Amino acid sequence: MFNKAMENVRLSPIVAISEEVNKKASETGKDFILFQRGEIGFSTPKYIVAAMIEALNQGLTKYPVSGGHIKLKKAIIHKLSNFNHVHGLEPENIVVTHGGQEGLQLAFKLFEGKKAVGFAPVWSCVLEDMVPYTSIDFRQIPLTGDFSINYDLLEGEIKDAAFLYLNTPHNPTGKIFNKEEIENVVKICSKYGTYIISDEAYERITFDGNEHFSPMQLDYENIIAAYTFSKTYAMTGWRLGYLVSRNKKITNLIKLGDYTQTAGVPTYTQFAGAEAILNTEMEKESLDSFMTEFSVRRNTLYEGLKAIDGVKLPIKPEGAFYIFPDFSEFVPKDIDKEESRLYIFHKLMDEGVATVYGSCFGKYFQNNLRFSYSTTNLEQIEEGVSRIKKALHK
Ligand SMILES: Cc1ncc(COP(=O)(O)O)c(C=O)c1O
Repeated sequence: MFNKAMENVRLSPIVAISEEVNKKASETGKDFILFQRGEIGFSTPKYIVAAMIEALNQGLTKYPVSGGHIKLKKAIIHKLSNFNHVHGLEPENIVVTHGGQEGLQLAFKLFEGKKAVGFAPVWSCVLEDMVPYTSIDFRQIPLTGDFSINYDLLEGEIKDAAFLYLNTPHNPTGKIFNKEEIENVVKICSKYGTYIISDEAYERITFDGNEHFSPMQLDYENIIAAYTFSKTYAMTGWRLGYLVSRNKKITNLIKLGDYTQTAGVPTYTQFAGAEAILNTEMEKESLDSFMTEFSVRRNTLYEGLKAIDGVKLPIKPEGAFYIFPDFSEFVPKDIDKEESRLYIFHKLMDEGVATVYGSCFGKYFQNNLRFSYSTTNLEQIEEGVSRIKKALHK
């Protein structure tokens, strides 16, 4: 009776995992180490909060300008040019959205019912929410064992696809697709005119001098890029993001799409976003402090997991705040597929370590687990690693 597309949207398994953790913690009195969430532990920097309060005090509480306020759009154009090296954009190339999530959903909606492709593992929200909501026939192209791209597989699938969903820095692997890889991907897409929905949520969370490369730097018009303030500025709860495309027909359609749901982001939130970008001194200070902490956490978790015999780590994460090790060695060969899918996840849960199982990220890499270090401090990471060691060698 109801719209099938909406009935097909599923609750994120990450929410279900968090509920299971709460239940187990209250039953057993155990303190869990929480590696399952992509939430950021840091508070939003004070200079951004102050800008929102100031905007509210100025009375900016009326209906927002559809598509985004010019003040924020100008700040975004400045940021795209300076940081992403994407030049020549105008306010009409930008649509301000309620977080990256709304931006992606509106972009997917443009291609409703069509075939699309994306590299697997793929962010769970795409599989559980965006794809069912827009009735997209989504084909997963597995990355190789070290999370590289198999271009033959890509070319084989892309010929009749409407778009490629491309995420870099990548959730859940922490891989950054470098300039050469992006150039190769764009070359293949341009051969068939395939659109790229470029999800750059983690653009500023990069380690060891690895640089984020935006596909829009290249001379190809069929790109829709989705950005968010959530990760860069610890603004997950503010719900602020934006979409960018050189094709104004696309941004115009997306703006109309936004009318059907939220009719715009509150102006005071947008003013805070503009300040977040334009106060470059404070931006640097807060980002530097986030990155120093993330970097130590990443090293500790990576080294700790690497030191456990049998745990395979295809790469040292280059960006985002996830690590995606392979636990195949520890999965018994004689159990059925369903049991094996959750085997290691449950083993770690029994020891008080919460993660996300690989099947949340698609049909490949089912023996991997995603660990997020966005909320866990160093002490918790060390305790987590020692519990993992104990769980695996029991
Ligand atoms: C890969 C990826 N893209 C986009 C987002 C969207 O974030 P938000 O809706 O908070 O802007 C997330 C959030 O976790 C993510 O992991």
